[in-house]
Amino acid sequence: MKFNITDLKSIETVAINFSKEIKPEIQIGLIGELGAGKTTFTSYLLKALGYEENISSPSYALCNEYQLSNFIIEHWDLYRLGGVPEELLEPPNSKTCRIIEWADKFEEIQNFLDLTISFTCNYDTNDRDLFINKK
Ligand SMILES: Nc1ncnc2c1ncn2[C@@H]1O[C@H](COP(=O)(O)OP(=O)(O)OP(=O)(O)O)[C@@H](O)[C@H]1O
Ligand SMILES: [Mg+2]
Repeated sequence: MKFNITDLKSIETVAINFSKEIKPEIQIGLIGELGAGKTTFTSYLLKALGYEENISSPSYALCNEYQLSNFIIEHWDLYRLGGVPEELLEPPNSKTCRIIEWADKFEEIQNFLDLTISFTCNYDTNDRDLFINKK
């Protein structure tokens, strides 16, 4: 599925529609250049799932966890890492959904992803595309 993203409102609409795919035990890879919109999309996704506080990028923390009413979202960013954290080589547990920015950085992770979302951005026009691929 491909979506053209012209502004923040349209990314919010995609996130709201996509939020029904989010459930425990799935691992989602977010792929795209620096600034393409991976964290922004995750933030709208959490909002759509009922998380009311703002979220911050996990670029430094590596992983942030958010407790929703009936499960946990782990939000990872692998950009700064030199190796794969071992826990990403196993599916998340029955109470956790994992969202991983820069999941394409390590080949070993690819087999453990249930879904990938790729972001492209034309930085001159700020025009963006988002592709959702289910495995
Ligand atoms: N659809 C959009 N329309 C306009 N601005 C956007 C859109 N998506 C993201 N932005 C803006 O682009 C900037 C970078 O976005 P974001 O942090 O989500 O990128 P990222 O892909 O997570 O980058 P990184 O790889 O550094 O983590 C933010 O200031 C955000 O507000
Ligand atoms: Mg980010």
